[in-house]
Amino acid sequence: MPQTLSAPGLTTGHAPFVEEARSRGELYISQPYDQYSEENHEAWRRLFARIRSRWERYANPYFLRGVEALQLPPDRIPKLSEINQRLQPLTGFQAKPVSGYVPGFLFFDCLRRREFPTTITIRDMDRLDYLPEPDIFHDVAGHVPMHTDRAFADVLVRFGDCAHTAVEMTSEIKDHAERVRRLTNIVRAMSRFFWFTVEFGLMKGPRGTVAYGSGLLSSYGELEHAIESDEVQRYPVQLEWLINQVAEIDHYQPILFVVDSFDHLFGLVGRLEEWMRAGKLNNVAPGLPEIQEHDLRSFMDAA
Ligand SMILES: [Fe+2]
Repeated sequence: MPQTLSAPGLTTGHAPFVEEARSRGELYISQPYDQYSEENHEAWRRLFARIRSRWERYANPYFLRGVEALQLPPDRIPKLSEINQRLQPLTGFQAKPVSGYVPGFLFFDCLRRREFPTTITIRDMDRLDYLPEPDIFHDVAGHVPMHTDRAFADVLVRFGDCAHTAVEMTSEIKDHAERVRRLTNIVRAMSRFFWFTVEFGLMKGPRGTVAYGSGLLSSYGELEHAIESDEVQRYPVQLEWLINQVAEIDHYQPILFVVDSFDHLFGLVGRLEEWMRAGKLNNVAPGLPEIQEHDLRSFMDAA
């Protein structure tokens, strides 16, 4: 059986196993499956049950195929080992359990190795609707089904290449302040690009616009809002706009960008890298997201 009543739980914000790993400085961890409480499984059951009909209407077909291929369980939190057995033969991707936030470079570098840093905790039952930080529902029900698609998986790997290029482009700068300034701009551009595509992207479908961004696919409320609401501005994706658009995280996204296909998206990441090499990301518009020191340090340490 997956749980006992005395299981300590792996609830976001209250997960002793994860907190202890963090205090030991361990980023990559295991998924101690029998620590999930019955309430944790119930949270997954409810989240999964209510979002399925919205996926049928608003998710892109590659995602729906991915949900099938991975056989995500409706009634309990998935075991990452089981998911990975089905995922790896398709694209080489693996969900890799982590204890918390993975600093910028390390995150992108994982993608390059076809590893997706995956949170193992799940949100509290009284916060089913919105959680600012990722949890296993966001990561495994929102992101991982996309990783079953070859073209999309290649996009993520290409982001990892960009992160290496960012290191290469800034490692020779002697003036520390200038190096930090340039890296801040480049990382901000990459983060915005990632945010408006992998997290909140829309794509053209044969029967209208559908979602491929995982922030949308894991949000019961925002998924419908993103496609149906008159309050959302939806525009064909433009690289110059993505890298300069402020990304706010605490409310439904008012501006979303539409790609034609994942090949189209792959080409855009390639252009992002070209622009980086040409110096065009050295002065992007200021504003959110804020780039944290540990993110910058991760790029500098990689040099
Ligand atoms: Fe995410």
